Amino acid sequence: MEELELLKKILDQELGAENRYVEHINKIKTPIIRKLLKDLKAEESKHKRQILKIIKNLDRKFDDKKYAESDKIEEERPGTEDFILVQALLETDKEAEEEAMNSYKEAAELTNYSELKTLFIEFKNDEEIHLKKIKNLIDQLSLFNR
Ligand SMILES: [Fe+2]
Ligand SMILES: [Fe+2]
Repeated sequence: MEELELLKKILDQELGAENRYVEHINKIKTPIIRKLLKDLKAEESKHKRQILKIIKNLDRKFDDKKYAESDKIEEERPGTEDFILVQALLETDKEAEEEAMNSYKEAAELTNYSELKTLFIEFKNDEEIHLKKIKNLIDQLSLFNR
């Protein structure tokens, strides 16, 4: 079934997004930036869980061990922030959000199931909001680095 393959590809993308945010949050010290990325991470986890649920309905034998919840966000550590690093991390997030947005747009066009199409469009809109939030943060940080 083609849809199942499409959903598995998307599931891996969401797992990757979740892990990327955890990794980035752990490299950042500024609470307000960590908070924004934590909120985005929570949304990627929600996407992942919803996609996983659909996959498990289609394929009862699907091995979901890899996709279990694993919150590895570390405690905030005091210290001086490396804003050059933060900007580099945010640029990576910006690109990844753009890719996620495009892949949902593509997925919505590929599927013939209207329920999936609706879900993919909804998720595409979520990713678009993520992209805007990251772009805004990059703009705000660049004001401080002039
Ligand atoms: Fe997502
Ligand atoms: Fe996202």
